[in-house]
Amino acid sequence: MATKKSDSVSPPAAPDFEGLAITASGVNRDGPTLVPVDRYISPEWMAIEHDKVWPHAWQVACSVDHVAEPGDFFEYRAGWLSIIVIRGVDGTLRAFQNACRHRGNSICQGSGSGLDELRCPYHRWAWTTEGQLREVPNRKGFGQFDNDDFALIPAQVDTWGRIVFVNLDTEAMPLAEWLEGVPDDLSWCPVDDYRCDALVVSAMPANWKVVVEGFSETYHVQGIHREMLGHIDDVDAPQKLWHRHGVSYQNYGVPSPRLGRNVKPETVWDTWMNNMGQRLGVEPGTPMPDLGEGQTARDLIAQGLVDHAAERGVDISMHDTVRLTAMSQYNLFPNATVLVMPDMISVLAARPGLTPDDCQFVMMSFRRAAPDAPRSQPVTAEIDSDTDLGFVMNQDVAIMKTAQRGLHQPGLAHLALSAEECRVINLHRNLDEWCGS
Ligand code: FES
Ligand SMILES: [Fe+2]
Repeated sequence: MATKKSDSVSPPAAPDFEGLAITASGVNRDGPTLVPVDRYISPEWMAIEHDKVWPHAWQVACSVDHVAEPGDFFEYRAGWLSIIVIRGVDGTLRAFQNACRHRGNSICQGSGSGLDELRCPYHRWAWTTEGQLREVPNRKGFGQFDNDDFALIPAQVDTWGRIVFVNLDTEAMPLAEWLEGVPDDLSWCPVDDYRCDALVVSAMPANWKVVVEGFSETYHVQGIHREMLGHIDDVDAPQKLWHRHGVSYQNYGVPSPRLGRNVKPETVWDTWMNNMGQRLGVEPGTPMPDLGEGQTARDLIAQGLVDHAAERGVDISMHDTVRLTAMSQYNLFPNATVLVMPDMISVLAARPGLTPDDCQFVMMSFRRAAPDAPRSQPVTAEIDSDTDLGFVMNQDVAIMKTAQRGLHQPGLAHLALSAEECRVINLHRNLDEWCGS
């Protein structure tokens, strides 16, 4: 009797990771790059990060628009760490560890304006906005001491474009050096001309790396964002890595190669408008205008972006169609993704939480403004993780929640990463360096 073909085919062997180094450092193209799952769920690994990473790495805190005027302040948190960013009465931006030199109380919460001193509410010790101790109620009881010995503990603060970064380590390299080739890579973009609209913080039941990694690859577009395939090339986006940071250059306004060769211009138009028509002020479902001679849907979208910016008095007509519709996705070690477009910038960051299973997902949005535009007054809000963020971001958030539960399953020892997830691999390669494993 003839053997059926299916009988003669061995079932695929179970993946055999025996003998492979469990490491995130290298790209082993004989097989996937493996990342130990402990990095996402173990309190021991979290403790290492809290010791070796967060007190020493530059991190995105807020926008210049949050701290534009003397007396403006913003509290940045990462796990138990808390930093006060404050524009002093002398106009200089400073940062301090958020700890009272009396009994350690946190001095400031949230953000605001109008401070002419930093005063701890507990027993009312007070410092100047430059951090010098200036008042201690009932001082006699403390005996003799020098005010200079009880100044607020400084941290580093600096800006790139309209983004404010902080670093608790006063010995850490300057921000300009930290950013490697990223500012030069963006030489086409007037990063100082954007203004912050909003900073929204959402408590997320996931490890901070789950959130960061969701904005470090386009592999998942064909998984959870299939509605985007009509207007993004998710396959051929070039990527570049520096040592700490990386970037992906993504063409929008063109269909994914996954859809084949005969995608209609209307599909490109319709899917763009459904996903981000607000960038042109166009409602989802608005029919595509007639194409001119030699014109593509991408050209129409680019013109729409130029026209919509012009309505706000902003000229972006110096950019060509490709630049206008493309997006550059910069991944800044450890925890920020900066999405740069000619009309807007989005910063997505994940601040570590108090356990491996929680973090704060931060979304900061900027719009291009006219050169020398006045500061904006950003909306700053805390939301819960069920808040509607638009359907693409809702899809990302849904995965953040289901991913963390999967990572806890006892049979799962490691993640398996493809070369196209090289920015995720790079995050772990850097964590290897920083965390000494
Ligand atoms: S803890 Fe701040 S004044 Fe006492
Ligand atoms: Fe996504």
